[in-house]
Amino acid sequence: MIEQTLAMIKPDAVSKNLIGEILKRYEAAKFKIVHLQMLHLSKNEAEAFYDVHQGRPFFESLVSFISSGPVVAVLLEGEDVIMRHRAMMGATDPKQAAPGTIRADLGSSIEENVVHGSDSTEAAEFEIPFFFGQESVTRR
Ligand code: RTP
Ligand code: MG
Repeated sequence: MIEQTLAMIKPDAVSKNLIGEILKRYEAAKFKIVHLQMLHLSKNEAEAFYDVHQGRPFFESLVSFISSGPVVAVLLEGEDVIMRHRAMMGATDPKQAAPGTIRADLGSSIEENVVHGSDSTEAAEFEIPFFFGQESVTRR
């Protein structure tokens, strides 16, 4: 099924000049880049984006990190792109991630793990309009 997912290049990757390296991997996988936006999330916006993690022990630290510098939001489209992107990202902790995944190759810690990806259709339906507006979901 052709679907869409929200990828986010996190502040650690932006500061390490890894935007191009990550986009290159998406293009090599034949994911279509539909929209792209660089922005610096406020603390409130980061809290809203990661609302599902409210109350977790790592929540405050995660929000500080995500709002610490610019991120690049990327709307990807393709066949089974949600799970294929998750597979390409690798496990949350780069030390546990399979060789060749983005996090294994480029991540430094469970927090500085380079990329975010929607993990379900429901997550994508929240995260895509969060960055690109309601219009982005219906526009083809
Ligand atoms: P993401 O949402 O960023 O794509 O990452 P994920 O699905 O692989 O992991 P998730 O469980 O959704 O957690 C979101 C982010 O919170 C940080 N985290 N820290 N210290 C910890 O135990 C811990 N667990 C999660 C990570 O930075 C993770 O990407
Ligand atoms: Mg997640």
